Amino acid sequence: MPQCRICGSDIEAFMSFGQMPIANGFLTPDQFADEYFFELAPAICGNCSMVQIIDQPDPSKMFHENYAFFSGTSKYMQVHFAAFAAAVQERHLSGSDDPFVVELGSNDGIMLRNFASQNIRHLGIEPSKNVGDAARESGVNTICEFFGEDVAGQIVGEYGQADALLAANVMCHIPDLTGVAKGAHALLKPDGVLVFEDPYLGDVVEKTSYDQIYDEHVFVFCALSVANAFGRHGFELIDVEPQITHGGSMRYTLAKKGARQASEAVTVLIAKETALGLDRPETFDKFRQNCEASRDQLMAVLNDLREKGVRVLGYGATSKSTTVMNYCGITPAHIAFISDTTPTKQGKCTPGAHVPVKPYEDFVADYPAYTVLFAWNHSREIMEKEQAYKAAGGKWINFVPKVAIQE
Ligand code: SAH
Ligand code: TMP
Ligand code: ZN
Repeated sequence: MPQCRICGSDIEAFMSFGQMPIANGFLTPDQFADEYFFELAPAICGNCSMVQIIDQPDPSKMFHENYAFFSGTSKYMQVHFAAFAAAVQERHLSGSDDPFVVELGSNDGIMLRNFASQNIRHLGIEPSKNVGDAARESGVNTICEFFGEDVAGQIVGEYGQADALLAANVMCHIPDLTGVAKGAHALLKPDGVLVFEDPYLGDVVEKTSYDQIYDEHVFVFCALSVANAFGRHGFELIDVEPQITHGGSMRYTLAKKGARQASEAVTVLIAKETALGLDRPETFDKFRQNCEASRDQLMAVLNDLREKGVRVLGYGATSKSTTVMNYCGITPAHIAFISDTTPTKQGKCTPGAHVPVKPYEDFVADYPAYTVLFAWNHSREIMEKEQAYKAAGGKWINFVPKVAIQE
């Protein structure tokens, strides 16, 4: 029987999304024959409440010199990370003469550039070489490593302990969370803080946003499971702050046990999660039923449009869309191509479903009648940008929180 990555208890999947490819593994037709697949099946641990996928491909298959996701492609995320950095600086660095900030999964430097520009000592840990190189070129100090206990020891040896360890949309990617927690404990000063944010389980359950579950997201966190997992390694959850990013995220602040006072917000959120049943199997049985209904409704819409010969495109070849397309059975016969602004994705096909990805200019040049909004988490930014599409009569197909055509 598979075991919980946090506490070692036996776990069992509450559903399967079926065979899935690497979510960011955009590929060319000559690579179709060798495409890698694994079974995507989430479980909840009955002992520590951690939601996790049972099998995860080896990290080296996902994070490498050709990693397709560049954080800086979203303008709104640039604003978000500037505010994140400012909040950390104000709350956690003001007492230190020569503060030192470390970030895991620093990608193209979208967060750390806000510290670099003020000459604050910083270090990014980024195993995907191409995105890390982009950060270095823009003046963000970055090393190409997977964070863990060994790397934490090396950093302390070279730079000393850190005031803050930050992570956005990466903690939930790391299967050896125990190694990260131990490394974080060694890396931080006695009153240092670990601040990280990830898509929030409460939102995933409430909005049936099952597309947050894919190979890279080995965990889907909530305050209950984060407090349990880090509590085992000398940390205490001292603050929680909801974020609107990535369709609903939570920012968790942890300090060494006893070092800081926990905020009231932690108690309130944990009580809310217990009331919502985020620690109970029945909740995930209902979630499975909601996923199946969402899939059936989306395919009813797409099959109907296909039969009528209506031209449909996709918007945003997100990693999340890999789960949607492969679970629902979307093919190039349903969606002619997906528009995406990321140069490394353009000219390739989506993993598993093999829908072509084309530059944004191709979308603008010939508007389709309907567009599936795969990048629904950037909806605000995209709706602002795409008023001409709407004015031309174009319609959006949404699937979160409900399958609906936006007239
Ligand atoms: N923080 C950015 C990037 C998130 S994508 C943002 O929020 O937009 C996740 C990043 O974490 C990728 O760039 C990936 O290469 C990196 N990563 C994956 N495993 C890691 C690990 N063990 N340690 C540090 N970074 C890791
Ligand atoms: P994300 O959901 O993982 O942030 O990925 C968003 C993807 O959508 C990324 O490949 C870039 C693409 N994108 C566009 O093509 N146009 C846009 O306006 C935005 C915001 C994103
Ligand atoms: Zn467990």
